Amino acid sequence: MAGSLTFAMLKPDAVGGGKSGAILAHIQQAGFAIRAMQMLRLTVTEAEAFYAVHRERPFYGELVEFMSSGPVVALALEAPDAVAAWRTAIGATDPAEAADGTIRKLFAESKGRNAVHGSDSDENAAREIAFFFPERELALLGVV
Ligand code: RTP
Ligand code: MG
Repeated sequence: MAGSLTFAMLKPDAVGGGKSGAILAHIQQAGFAIRAMQMLRLTVTEAEAFYAVHRERPFYGELVEFMSSGPVVALALEAPDAVAAWRTAIGATDPAEAADGTIRKLFAESKGRNAVHGSDSDENAAREIAFFFPERELALLGVV
């Protein structure tokens, strides 16, 4: 598939709630190609680093605690204009404000426990993919 890459993650509420399969099916039906995928659990230190941009925000401690509370699924997704397409597919941060048919509308519990993550720029997509996937594995998968 031609296109660019974005980084996506199924968060602990989605994985722990048994929603991984349904969300992965939704991702593929929406036209994204899954180019790399790994289930793992973030340490507190890794969660702090991943969301370091938010470290001054009042919800940072809660966010780090939640993101390190159980398994996540990390994904490199490919699609035309992948970053914007994936942000559209997941919907607003708060599922109460997310459009009908979006992943957060369908699967999220709350603004904090909101099922999925999506990169907000091409630069952050590249940084986040590199955070989770070793260069060697990306090369073997033909992603880079
Ligand atoms: P994400 O980075 O996870 O894809 O989410 P986002 O861009 O839609 O939202 P962002 O502003 O980057 O916030 C990151 C995550 O922090 C949690 N959050 N909680 N309680 C709150 O007011 C609040 N605000 C943000 C959410 O889990 C959000 O996805
Ligand atoms: Mg964000």
